Amino acid sequence: MSTWREHPLCASPTPWPARFWGPERLDPTAWRELAGRLVIDDEVARLCAVLAGADRIVDVGGGTGLLTQALAAQVAPVTIVEPSAEQRAHLPPGLTAIAGRAEAVPLPDASADAAIATWVLQYCDDPAQAVRELARLARRRVAIVQAAPDNQLVDIYNAEAAVAGLPPAHHGWLLALAAETLGAVGFAIELTRVRAPVRVAPAEADAVADTLARLHFAGHPALPAMRAATAPLIAGFARDGALIDDGVLLLARRPR
Ligand SMILES: C[S@@+](CC[C@H](N)C(=O)[O-])C[C@H]1O[C@@H](n2cnc3c(N)ncnc32)[C@H](O)[C@@H]1O
Repeated sequence: MSTWREHPLCASPTPWPARFWGPERLDPTAWRELAGRLVIDDEVARLCAVLAGADRIVDVGGGTGLLTQALAAQVAPVTIVEPSAEQRAHLPPGLTAIAGRAEAVPLPDASADAAIATWVLQYCDDPAQAVRELARLARRRVAIVQAAPDNQLVDIYNAEAAVAGLPPAHHGWLLALAAETLGAVGFAIELTRVRAPVRVAPAEADAVADTLARLHFAGHPALPAMRAATAPLIAGFARDGALIDDGVLLLARRPR
């Protein structure tokens, strides 16, 4: 971690964690509510560009297939590996999905030209093992997206986690872990920023506070306190009609 933690896209005002704070939990119903607000054009364009020429892609934690649909249409056939039956049930028609977890993907070595995991590592029991699996699957390229240092959805998650008495998230820690893990097995790494706004009007702050609290803490007894803590934060962030949900794209290429 020593070198990568110095990278500006791994920095964050949150102190560097001594260990992984997760796994975070994700509620599929709240995820679908949020997904309708995501503007993913830049992320799709950047992933399509870096994966151009792939013959097959494995999308680990493909969720409801938002990104996958675009990749399958514009780049190559995609196999989604997704543990949640509810997420798999909401895939658009025509996408292939198998049940499985990032830490032990039920596919052979070198299954695809490219293996990707976007906004997934924070949900894994063992993120380093998940990254090793991506390296095992990919003949040429691994792409990972995690949150940028100024990502406001992470700020909101951290406010909720504080209410629950849990440690804050730090996506730079995950990116540095992934870069170090992939670098150790010979990949060349580059990190770039991806724009990903979430459409929210200030008047929607209470509704979005509810969605975001349930996204990671569905059923938690402190949900009302989480909403009370984050609604003013969201109203302030959303003054221009959107929250910053920017990401960092980690592209790892195997030397030829
Ligand atoms: C925030 S969503 C991201 C979905 C998609 N990759 C995207 O960028 O739109 C995270 C996804 O990771 C899945 N997930 C959770 N734990 C996982 C694990 N251990 N292995 C693989 N996927 C996991 C969740 O079910 C969910 O579909």
